[in-house]
Amino acid sequence: MIEAKNGTCAVVIVAAGSGERLGHGMPKAKVPLGGEPMLAHAVRGVVQAGVAGHIVIAVPAGDDELRELCQILAAEVGEDTGLAWSVVDGGADRSASVRAALEMLGDAVTTVLIHDAARPLAPSGVFDRVTAALRDGAKAVIPALAVVDTIKTVVPAGLPNTGAGVERVSGTPARNRLRAVQTPQGFELATLRKAHAHAATLDAAAAAEITDDAMLVEAIGEDVYVVQGSTHSLKITTPTDLLLAEAMLAGPLRPRWVEG
Ligand code: CTP
Ligand code: MG
Repeated sequence: MIEAKNGTCAVVIVAAGSGERLGHGMPKAKVPLGGEPMLAHAVRGVVQAGVAGHIVIAVPAGDDELRELCQILAAEVGEDTGLAWSVVDGGADRSASVRAALEMLGDAVTTVLIHDAARPLAPSGVFDRVTAALRDGAKAVIPALAVVDTIKTVVPAGLPNTGAGVERVSGTPARNRLRAVQTPQGFELATLRKAHAHAATLDAAAAAEITDDAMLVEAIGEDVYVVQGSTHSLKITTPTDLLLAEAMLAGPLRPRWVEG
């Protein structure tokens, strides 16, 4: 492995999930998108963004196929770029996978971006906006979009006459202050390590509720800044999402052609 240079920005790509909701019977990172595994798109997107000095990929433990794919992708980039590469076994949940990846980062790394392999079409412009905010002093920064739907909070309830189990609205947050959050999320490495050290102490139920890294940083009282995300950074979770991503790749909306 090539050692990362001083002041390096590392990018962690978490690809160790099982892809249950997509229903392909294999980890999502392997599911074909535009004829290639989803992970290949995610990794190439990170390389093209040009912000990484070290790329760490978390894959499902024991998945030799994905490890081999990572090797092929590293060879594609070539050694003369000075880019450091690592592949690690992920953990039981997303934040455990992030922690396994953080262990690979040496002292030369000062900032880190955490990116979902499940957002394979995230454009370079988003990576640029996140790293620019880190350079401008943010210790934590997330890309996000304004939400278009009205969002309600709910509680379990029974219908008045029958008691039939449904839900009842408990509140409607002002939509203009709501944001749908994406990755890559950027952090000062020391801050993210501190946040994850706290997360490592949580029990399984609490750990299952951690859906991004920023919420761990919020929990230790650090400010999290927000920059503009992209509709192309959609997370592929369900078959409908995959269909949409296929259409984006095939059509005139091909993300890397149109996004700045
Ligand atoms: N992830 C991971 N390690 C885990 C769980 C998730 O690295 N133990 C990664 C996934 O590979 C994905 C990202 O976190 O890139 C977001 O998770 P999600 O969309 O939930 O993916 P999966 O967990 O694979 O999907 P599902 O929840 O439907 O099984
Ligand atoms: Mg999951």
